[in-house]
Amino acid sequence: MAKAQKAQFICQSCGSVAPRWQGRCESCGEWNSIIEERIESAPKGLGAAKSGNVIEFEDLKSESPTLPRSVSGISEFDRVTGGGLVPASVTLIGGDPGIGKSTLLLQLVCTLANKNVSCAYISGEEAVDQVRLRAKRLGLADAPVDLASATNVRDIVKSMVRNNGKKAYDVMVIDSIQTMYVDTVDSAPGTVTQVRTSTQELIRNAKRLGVTLLIVGHVTKEGAIAGPRVLEHMVDTVLYFEGDRGHQFRILRGVKNRFGPTDEIGVFEMAGVGLIEVENPSALFISDRSDNVSGSAVLAGLEGSRPVLVEIQALVVPTSYSTPKRAVVGWDANRLSMLLAVLESRCNIMMSGMDVYLNVAGGLRITEPAADLAVAIALVSAASGDPVPKDTVIMGEIGLAGEVRHVPQPDLRLKEAAKLGFKSAFIPKPIKSKNQEDVKHAMKIESFERLDQVTRLFKKPVNAHEMSD
Ligand code: TYD
Ligand code: MG
Repeated sequence: MAKAQKAQFICQSCGSVAPRWQGRCESCGEWNSIIEERIESAPKGLGAAKSGNVIEFEDLKSESPTLPRSVSGISEFDRVTGGGLVPASVTLIGGDPGIGKSTLLLQLVCTLANKNVSCAYISGEEAVDQVRLRAKRLGLADAPVDLASATNVRDIVKSMVRNNGKKAYDVMVIDSIQTMYVDTVDSAPGTVTQVRTSTQELIRNAKRLGVTLLIVGHVTKEGAIAGPRVLEHMVDTVLYFEGDRGHQFRILRGVKNRFGPTDEIGVFEMAGVGLIEVENPSALFISDRSDNVSGSAVLAGLEGSRPVLVEIQALVVPTSYSTPKRAVVGWDANRLSMLLAVLESRCNIMMSGMDVYLNVAGGLRITEPAADLAVAIALVSAASGDPVPKDTVIMGEIGLAGEVRHVPQPDLRLKEAAKLGFKSAFIPKPIKSKNQEDVKHAMKIESFERLDQVTRLFKKPVNAHEMSD
């Protein structure tokens, strides 16, 4: 009997299925992302006759054996995973091409292998020699890791098992899922169907055998793992490796974690000898700061459980366009628009005739709302030409009414700032905390209820005078 094959039009960006080919995906709005894929439909009637079995339920109280996590010793990685790799878990590591995913995973498996964890590294992109050369450069050539270059999922699955039926490796790296294929599927490697089928096949067998899988996935220019969000719900943990290729910092960020927190980051520096852990990111992110320049504010931020100080830079110049330009690096552009509106309507600082540029120094991307006040102050400082008071850190969320709102864990942030030699802080009012006293004598604290109380500390921008006159 000939296999039943059906053509489907699948968006390579979001995975949605369209009835016919079209230039633009209606679901995600991406252009030229729809590709025809041939899908084998399962023979009709198979399994339909079976009536199924009753599931055996268990109670919540019963003890389940917990296997110890594989702690790699690369503490930044262990922090993001929530204390090491959970046995038989599947982790997806996404990131732009060339950001350092292969380097990170090679360092990881070599470190694990040196601790007697049996590891295999399967590359679909590089030849074994290339991987070996890289390991040599990283100074890890002696690690007992099994290398292979393969792309056929069936071969990989076969190699997961030893002759006695037990798993062949504790940890396996698949680099990358976009190069893998299952030969029963007609689509090319990298298409949604192939990526999805390959992942399913790998995960099913890894879980059955108890192999810990680390899967590399490239991301599209919009930042979604190509072939795409469909992968994220299939795996236990999703980590993004991000950073600016112009900077040496790389940030490993937890996006989903079934076994731990998701808000942690790990900071690395890409050097000639591979990725080096950065234990004190605050010192690094603010190291190139110049004093007495307007438009620069230091945010006392928090990434997961760790306080991180970051410099926020703003530049405000009269526009030569009919619509002023707003360019943002490392922060949310919508949030910037909101802050500009609040500055305009609640503090009478007009930015409508100005181009606004905002940059988070060091290539970090900030998502927490606690950065609002620091951004607003950087903007006002840039517009007025007045520098932010020296050695001051800032934290606070801003509401649409112009109120300065509380932030989580103010003491932790202040402690970090004090440790790095900051003398004063602009914070929301009031902080209710037990440790207020210890923090107080370490730093001069100025607290604010409304944004206009802060903006009054700066010269009125010239532009605003002109507008209000
Ligand atoms: P790679 O791990 O191949 O990226 P990915 O797997 O995410 O595509 O990293 C490639 C980049 O890292 C490459 O541009 C060179 C740089 N690099 C270093 O700077 N130092 C090193 O020791 C290594 C191995 C790579
Ligand atoms: Mg790679």
